[in-house]
Amino acid sequence: MKKSITILLMVMATIVFSSSAFAGVEFLRGNQELMDPAKEPDQKKQQVVQGGFERSYKIQPPMIPHKIDKEEINMKVNTCMKCHSEKTYEEKKAPKAGDSHYVDRDGKVLETVSSRRYFCNQCHAPQVEANPLVENTFIGAK
Ligand code: HEC
Ligand code: HEC
Repeated sequence: MKKSITILLMVMATIVFSSSAFAGVEFLRGNQELMDPAKEPDQKKQQVVQGGFERSYKIQPPMIPHKIDKEEINMKVNTCMKCHSEKTYEEKKAPKAGDSHYVDRDGKVLETVSSRRYFCNQCHAPQVEANPLVENTFIGAK
């Protein structure tokens, strides 16, 4: 019994995956044979938007309105902080990383950015001019 259910599921999965369900959608690795090595995806041009992107809701991490492909975040450096740190933001005319970024997990206010907020692109993302893969009807509450 178990076996026939498994076979039935496999047949159904094959029908779904080989049918037109995915017509027009290109997979991230392209429409290549599974065993072919993946092609490097095209580099999309990151958008530069003066004044930044509007937020969809109050505590949304704002999206990054400039290119970041040359920036580096690792154990030794965080080049975002060349412009966004408490020491540099005025000179670079960049917004300072939010106050919440200077609070540790016990609620203590720190002088430098908290390790909880070190990996900026965990929450902040650059944007590219791209069509959405699927329809999205989300409307933010401001
Ligand atoms: C060379 C300086 C510089 C570097 C490096 C830099 N930024 Fe920025 N960033 C800016 C400036 C200037 C703005 C304001 C742009 C504007 O509003 O027109 C900005 C805006 C932003 C904003 C939008 C803030 C808001 O309230 O809308 C985010 C988020 C951000 N940067 C994140 C990052 C992250 C993450 C990195 C590293 C991956 C980074 N930035 C590296 C200068 C920099
Ligand atoms: C865990 C998620 C998270 C991480 C990691 C994070 N941020 Fe944010 N960031 C947010 C949120 C949420 C906001 C909006 C609320 C606020 O200001 O705290 C924000 C706001 C900002 C703003 C706008 C501040 C303002 O006053 O409008 C800047 C600039 C920024 N972050 C830069 C950075 C940089 C640079 C880093 C890395 C050092 C970083 N963030 C890491 C979540 C994050």
